[in-house]
Amino acid sequence: MATQILLKNIDVPGLAGFQVYRNLGGYTAVEKALKTLTPDEVTDEVKKSGLKGRGGAGFPTGMKWGFIDKQSGKDRYLVCNYDESEPGTFKDRHIGTLNPHQLIEGMILGSYALGAKTAYIYIRGELFYVLNIIEKAIQEAYNNGYLGQNILGSGYSLDLYCHPGAGAYICGEETALLESLEGKRGNPRIKPPFPAIVGLYGCPTVVNNVETIATLPWIINNGSDAYAAIGVGNSKGTKLISACGHINKPGIYEIELGLPVEEFIFSDEYCGGIRDGNKLKAVVAGGSSVPILPAELILKTAAGQPRLMSYESLSEGGFQTGTMLGSGGFIVMDHTTCIVKNLLTFARFYRHESCGQCSPCREGTSWMEKILTRIENGQGTTKDIDLLVDISKHVEGNTICPLGDAAAWPVASAIRHFREEFEEHIKLQKCPF
Ligand SMILES: Cc1cc2nc3c(=O)[nH]c(=O)nc-3n(C[C@H](O)[C@H](O)[C@H](O)COP(=O)(O)O)c2cc1C
Repeated sequence: MATQILLKNIDVPGLAGFQVYRNLGGYTAVEKALKTLTPDEVTDEVKKSGLKGRGGAGFPTGMKWGFIDKQSGKDRYLVCNYDESEPGTFKDRHIGTLNPHQLIEGMILGSYALGAKTAYIYIRGELFYVLNIIEKAIQEAYNNGYLGQNILGSGYSLDLYCHPGAGAYICGEETALLESLEGKRGNPRIKPPFPAIVGLYGCPTVVNNVETIATLPWIINNGSDAYAAIGVGNSKGTKLISACGHINKPGIYEIELGLPVEEFIFSDEYCGGIRDGNKLKAVVAGGSSVPILPAELILKTAAGQPRLMSYESLSEGGFQTGTMLGSGGFIVMDHTTCIVKNLLTFARFYRHESCGQCSPCREGTSWMEKILTRIENGQGTTKDIDLLVDISKHVEGNTICPLGDAAAWPVASAIRHFREEFEEHIKLQKCPF
């Protein structure tokens, strides 16, 4: 059985309540940190653990905290990114719904390390039911002396607020999130300056994903060495994977990084194989933004090595033959899937969610959706395939935030690996599926 850091107690009845969490050893990491560790020592532990951000980009968490300007004389903030809107990714809502105190404990640890007196959990508007659970848990933490003034008599004080967004995917991009939290339209900011220097209300700020933050209590309790001992290469620890699509057992799994992809898809411990005994056709391994891979390339790298669930292995081969771990939204497609139709669904999402600030993204996402619609409906021409590739190249890398890349990569990779399927739609003048 793989180490469980996030899901270990998830089935314990009443875990969302303070007392049950406390009885299972909850809040001991906060006690340890506040009584025996300085803020810099907490940061050092996180650095040494090798934890990487679980929001998608995989940036080392301790290193990000290290960029915070502690000499600015300004307030500092920790903001939890609970926007979780990427198609295929549905792991964070599980933590908040069933184990909110682990997230709150992580927020206290992170805030203490950064010297933040105020912290925010910015939660996607549609997750209103989770917001209610978290707010109740925050109140319990206040009532028991883990939030508020002079926590556990340590002299450290923290206020924690949960703030709902209004259901815009772009508000998951960290600078758009900060704009939205400030009460403005959620448009991404130009970087630099990065939030560690100029973040919320112009102050040094760290934005971290829910899963990243909920991992912190385990690291402080068990030590960075124990965490770094799990995983493979520079992919340390465990990762939540939300698995969906044509598998026998869709759900949320906690894996040790380094698990072979083949084992994840086919073993009964995880996805349990493809539905109805069908053939595996393709996988989008890290949420809708990452490149799609055909069966042969998701199971083995181009060099013939077994592909592993790790940052390095999934991206081996670059975008020619690899993909990304991303946010862990693992979408599995069997041989009955129309790749063009699937791509059209993604394209529609990105067109709808583009904030419209950058022309290449605003116009490009719209054009990609239009062209894919005509190909899927049998009205495309051969030129349309090259036009799609051309548009995707003009969007990628030419926008303020990576939403443009997120829209372009699925298009480019689907054509790279499944070009004949696009051609067949055009030849038959209809969808062959
Ligand atoms: C369009 C877009 C949407 C994003 N949505 C999320 C999200 O819902 N949750 C999240 O944690 N990160 C999201 N990110 C990544 C954040 O910008 C940021 O990298 C992340 O919150 C940092 O946390 P981490 O270091 O713990 O991964 C998104 C990025 C983009 C470009």
